[in-house]
Amino acid sequence: MTQDEMKKAAGWAALKYVTKGGIIGVGTGSTVNHFIDALGSVKDEIKGAVSSSIASTEKLKELGIQVFDCNDIEKLDVYVDGADEINPTKDMIKGGGAALTREKIVAAISEKFVCIVDDTKGVDVLGQFPLPVEVIPMAREQVARELRKLGGNPVYREGVITDNGNIILDVQDMQITSPKDMEYKINNIPGVVTNGLFAHRGADVVITGTPSGAKIEE
Ligand code: 5RP
Repeated sequence: MTQDEMKKAAGWAALKYVTKGGIIGVGTGSTVNHFIDALGSVKDEIKGAVSSSIASTEKLKELGIQVFDCNDIEKLDVYVDGADEINPTKDMIKGGGAALTREKIVAAISEKFVCIVDDTKGVDVLGQFPLPVEVIPMAREQVARELRKLGGNPVYREGVITDNGNIILDVQDMQITSPKDMEYKINNIPGVVTNGLFAHRGADVVITGTPSGAKIEE
């Protein structure tokens, strides 16, 4: 099985958590794209979606799924999204696709976070994947200095502007043994919009696409 086939297995398995007549929180990325295809197959059984990026919104609309404004929704039953890394306690690094801030917002209004990954994403300690940090452009160098003080090596993601008009610093060389502390510390740096650690709001369910199919951990 290829990595994309494993992503597809995870994406389609997440249909199990889609509530009939509900509005579904939808993340961003290549694994989520498979989930959106799956959602298209049941589009007459759901009310619509709240999306975490312009890219996902476009794909949802192309399939005829109504996209609701996050401001009009108080609570979602379920949010389905991918991850760049996930540890055994279901803390994640996200933001490889630069959608981390909107992802965190939609996750925050969701009762259940269903994380869909292929089996290359599981790690014991987060940080091998560079941690994305969304930053207000004028704060780039100041935030980079503060991130160095925290032990990381921030690298400016050239040519990328987020859906919110900001830039991304990818922090290399971090061994994140206390994800909640690190999430809090980085978010406290002036100029940081948010960082890609999802520890305060981690996943509730992990669906891993493996060569022998999708495995579900609740
Ligand atoms: C986007 C994300 C994605 O969920 C993460 O990058 C995983 O992407 P993929 O499913 O393409 O491997 O956080 O900001």
